[in-house]
Amino acid sequence: MLKIKEVQFVKSIVLLKDKPRPFYPEFAFAGRSNVGKSSLINALLNRKNIARVSKQPGKTRSINYFLINRNFYLVDLPGYGFARVSASEKKSWQTMIESYLLHSQELKELFVLIDAVVGPQKNDLQLIDWLRYQGIHFRVIATKTDKLSRSQLQTQLLRMGKMLELPESEPIIPFSATRRIGRGDLLATIDRLLKNGITE
Ligand code: GTP
Ligand code: MG
Repeated sequence: MLKIKEVQFVKSIVLLKDKPRPFYPEFAFAGRSNVGKSSLINALLNRKNIARVSKQPGKTRSINYFLINRNFYLVDLPGYGFARVSASEKKSWQTMIESYLLHSQELKELFVLIDAVVGPQKNDLQLIDWLRYQGIHFRVIATKTDKLSRSQLQTQLLRMGKMLELPESEPIIPFSATRRIGRGDLLATIDRLLKNGITE
């Protein structure tokens, strides 16, 4: 099992040319603002607030790199779909996320986070369509699963899998940062990808 031995916040960037060096394999987290990307990273790394979390949506406005075990990066991407920003700011975030996804050769896997309570929204479906069109592989994580009962969660996971037309071989990973559910699964997934070197 992958052990988190050393965690370093390395850099926050807005332009891809400023990516931290040396390059290592990257695992990135995308999703709507407030879906729980930064909380998931903190839970995964056993840190309280290394990836900053706030009650205010739109907290993460740049691309944040965390170096783990001097071996790979976790990348916290800015959230999309936050209503209270200007059109030009929205556009610049979208450009940032898209250029990251199109030009990150070191990206081993993209995790798309979707709120288990809210389910996939229009902008999630747009992102997923775009990823498929671009041939960018991704896995879906359902967040905040602590807010649902076990049976509600099962129903929601089935519904999400159908809506997003996900293959059965790559089931949605349920995650709760508050209850630390799904942490082992996600670490195992990262470990597997690091070991067999599949980039897809
Ligand atoms: P942006 O940086 O705005 O894109 O948001 P984000 O996706 O990084 O979300 P963040 O981790 O900041 O969490 C947003 C809110 O959801 C915070 O109030 C968190 O405390 C809450 N939250 C995150 N994960 C969980 C979870 O697993 N369970 C519950 N109940 N709340 C969560
Ligand atoms: Mg964040």
